[in-house]
Amino acid sequence: MQLANYIRDIQGFPKEGILFKDITPLLIDQKARKECLEILVSSLRDKKIDKVIGVESRGFFFGMLIAQELNVGFVPVRKPNKLPYDTISASYELEYGSDRLEIHTDAICKGDRVLIHDDVLATGGTAKAVCELVEQLGGEIVQFNFLMELSFLNGRDRIKGYDIFAAITY
Ligand code: PRP
Ligand code: MG
Repeated sequence: MQLANYIRDIQGFPKEGILFKDITPLLIDQKARKECLEILVSSLRDKKIDKVIGVESRGFFFGMLIAQELNVGFVPVRKPNKLPYDTISASYELEYGSDRLEIHTDAICKGDRVLIHDDVLATGGTAKAVCELVEQLGGEIVQFNFLMELSFLNGRDRIKGYDIFAAITY
């Protein structure tokens, strides 16, 4: 299976000048999705992970599947004012715009070994914000785990020193 064949380029979405990587062909194909999941988790089975974070919204798809596959808890990191319980938040800059991310204060326990999953590593702003949230709650980041890395945007520089995995690098 060639993972890249299931990721579709959409030019000019959500606005002009952006080349959007559409993963819906990957989500709809059960076999490709399963193989992709195996690529994402294969190096993680012996890493004693306690929690998997999925970043709203496109990080939810495989984030939940990874958590299920590893038999561990899933934690949603969400956009502002979506989580009902006590939260902490971190601001971040996006490739297009800026925003804030939130996590429930009881989602990560001190010493938890945490995997952070998202679909894309672009500028790294999102990943950095999630990093701050996890560490503020006392979690230990075992790996940043992405479907795709847009290496020309140098997102890695924002999360230097951490283990970073991407199934595909553009
Ligand atoms: C996209 C993508 C990543 C993030 C990467 O999410 O899904 O989460 O941007 O960009 P960065 O590395 O430059 O921070 P977006 O905020 O567009 O929202 P979505 O997942 O809900 O589509
Ligand atoms: Mg996202």
